[in-house]
Amino acid sequence: MTVKTVRIAMNGVTGRMGYRQHLVRSILAIREQGGLDLGDGTTLWPEPVLVGRRDHAVRALAERHGLDHWSTDLDAVLADPSVEIYFDAQVTSARVTAVRTAIAAGKHVYCEKPTATTLDDSLALARLARDGGIKSGVVQDKVFLPGLLKLRRLVDGGFFGRILSVRGEFGYWVFEGDWQSAQRPSWNYRAEDGGGITVDMFPHWEYVLHDIFGRVTSVQALTTTHIPQRWDENGKLYEATADDATYGIFQLEGGVVAQINSSWAVRVNRDELVEFQVDGTEGSAVAGLRNCRAQHRSATPKPVWNPDLPVSESFRSQWQEVPDNGEFDNGFKAQWELFLRHVMLNEPWRWDLLAGARGVQLAELGMKSSAEGVRLDVPELAL
Ligand SMILES: NC(=O)c1ccc[n+]([C@@H]2O[C@H](COP(=O)([O-])OP(=O)(O)OC[C@H]3O[C@@H](n4cnc5c(N)ncnc54)[C@H](O)[C@@H]3O)[C@@H](O)[C@H]2O)c1
Repeated sequence: MTVKTVRIAMNGVTGRMGYRQHLVRSILAIREQGGLDLGDGTTLWPEPVLVGRRDHAVRALAERHGLDHWSTDLDAVLADPSVEIYFDAQVTSARVTAVRTAIAAGKHVYCEKPTATTLDDSLALARLARDGGIKSGVVQDKVFLPGLLKLRRLVDGGFFGRILSVRGEFGYWVFEGDWQSAQRPSWNYRAEDGGGITVDMFPHWEYVLHDIFGRVTSVQALTTTHIPQRWDENGKLYEATADDATYGIFQLEGGVVAQINSSWAVRVNRDELVEFQVDGTEGSAVAGLRNCRAQHRSATPKPVWNPDLPVSESFRSQWQEVPDNGEFDNGFKAQWELFLRHVMLNEPWRWDLLAGARGVQLAELGMKSSAEGVRLDVPELAL
């Protein structure tokens, strides 16, 4: 077995996503399993080069995990020809400039979503990547979640018959930050810093709907800021200038209607933080992050509307758990492995910067639809 090292500049690894999901649960996890077997007698060994703005924070991370390479000088890291891939999980507003620089330096690029806050910027990145002949990838982790993998299995197996509708409910209460600290960084609630739930979540809904049910062809959204003031990491009061809830209706190619509520101002009365109910002529299913329950038409009860009588049956217990039938790896790691295989072996890959731009397009059109109070077509993007 030959071992091939791939050096990856990882920027934004002191953040929530960069550290936990990308560094620890993906790249370090691949090292813990002995590298990535490329299947051609080669094991790929990822060598992260941690990049960040704050010297002490990046060094502390490197020391904690016994990593030898870290820097606060992104330009110098990108000028190093031994670094092949640039990864970005910085705050959204810092992404475009850094990704542009990495593409100009000839690095393959993998980054968090959204790739930008405007469609123009996200398309420009996709074009630069194409023109530069580099490979690109955008994190689209939700389709690698066990619950959604099981849902996709039901779709692929024809379980639903004709799919009619998708109802998604996403969200939880994000504390305001006064008497209990907020569990999300404050930039998420400031539009000027790249925040907002539409720009954060519509990119996810775009690829979830597109990959499993069909491309989104129209959007109608109502976005709002339910909590207008919050307290930041230093306990300072600030104006929440970004939307913290967005209620969207999407038409999909093939006729499916999807409706997804996303909110950071909702208390959870569901089994999981996100759930999608799919109804089809032959059956229905409810998928969350991990679980998926289904009900076939042959086992569908016949409730009769009568408010004078107490509920006589337990509707939730009438669903059947969809079995795992296999092991599910961490979704971020699974996508990293596919990206590395794409870079090294040229294997097929569809989650590139153009796919990332589709997510930004949906967010931008969602915001516009809300501002104008209209339903908008979502044109198919091309480079
Ligand atoms: N795929 C997902 O499910 C998912 C979930 C949450 C967030 N995200 C995305 O990941 C990215 C990071 O989000 P997060 O929640 O980890 O954020 P975070 O605030 O925890 O981390 C941000 C990182 O960017 C760095 N940074 C660079 N420039 C900065 C600046 N000017 N101001 C502040 N920080 C700066 C920080 O040091 C830190 O390492 C965002 O683009 C977000 O949309 C993706």
